[in-house]
Amino acid sequence: MSNKDIYILGIESSCDDTSVAVLKNDQVLSNKIANQSIHKKYGGVVPELASRAHLSNIIPVTELAINESGISLNKISAIAYTRGPGLMGSLIVGAEFAKSLGVSLNIPVIEVNHMQAHILANFINNSDRNPEFPFIGITISGGHTQFILVEDYFKMKILGETLDDAIGEAFDKCGKKIGLEYPAGPEIDKVSKMGNELKFNFPIPKVKEGNISYSGTKTAFINFLEKNLKKNKNFIDENLHDICASIQKNLIDNLLNKVEFFIKEKNIKKIVFGGGVSANSYLKKRLYEESKENGWEVFIPDIQYTTDNAAMIGIVGYLKYINSDISDLKSTPLPRYNF
Ligand code: KG4
Ligand code: ZN
Repeated sequence: MSNKDIYILGIESSCDDTSVAVLKNDQVLSNKIANQSIHKKYGGVVPELASRAHLSNIIPVTELAINESGISLNKISAIAYTRGPGLMGSLIVGAEFAKSLGVSLNIPVIEVNHMQAHILANFINNSDRNPEFPFIGITISGGHTQFILVEDYFKMKILGETLDDAIGEAFDKCGKKIGLEYPAGPEIDKVSKMGNELKFNFPIPKVKEGNISYSGTKTAFINFLEKNLKKNKNFIDENLHDICASIQKNLIDNLLNKVEFFIKEKNIKKIVFGGGVSANSYLKKRLYEESKENGWEVFIPDIQYTTDNAAMIGIVGYLKYINSDISDLKSTPLPRYNF
């Protein structure tokens, strides 16, 4: 082991997953996640229940991550935690735990922007095939849909974003309307594989320039279901696969239209994804086609690093640590944390 090795404990608690990871430089030694199934019952995340679950999960998940990493707590060089954006109550649990542990171990604490982390997840375990700057970063999650010009690790500028719902939210809300459990994105992905994506057509909301909108699609989808259910009460059951494949195509078409817009506008063909929706297999198929036909150079993190996870917080912690970018212990969570 070299003396220069840096060990980061990453902590993520912005929404409904409690996650803790240990990294040795940019390599992940462990990445443990406790999902909160309690929210399924409510069809979405209940903030009060999420913070309570973080409170009971955070110490056991940290123990698991430390044990699996094979290193002891006193080897950790710094603790990185999500400062925002996210749910206030959830962020407080991770932030205060990180700061307290940092003080007790007498090591630095580093705050991390969750959305930057989704993009920088592409640098995990990856040293010889990292994306080169500049590139267009695209965060697609339950809370965000953003197009970002990334000129360096921490030189990021938002070019455009959703004016209403995020793409993951659109997957989840449409899924809920056809009886799928929260979060519906992965289920729509799975069910769509057996469906015909051209069977039903939905409009794509028109938004000027680089911004994007998803709430109109959700309304059109609800109207479409109501109209067909009036004619046939078994419409959803009889057409589930085709409905899923068609709405999924619409949500992805909308996204890819904007990606194409920025590729042309910025004259950059390198696109780097992050966030839960980048796990979507239909999106990956479409991106593969674009890369073959139009030379798009596409980067997507390994699947375990696309949805919320602490390894992505750890990689940002590592990048900040080597730049001596350490945080003030007085810093408090920011539910709306812009960069
Ligand atoms: O990044 P993430 O784990 O949490 C947020 O920061 O929001 O993203 C969660 C979102 C949910 O909306 C979920 O439905 C969606 O990502 N998602 C997917 C897939 N896997 C997760 N959406 C479509 N296809 C998937 N395979
Ligand atoms: Zn996220």
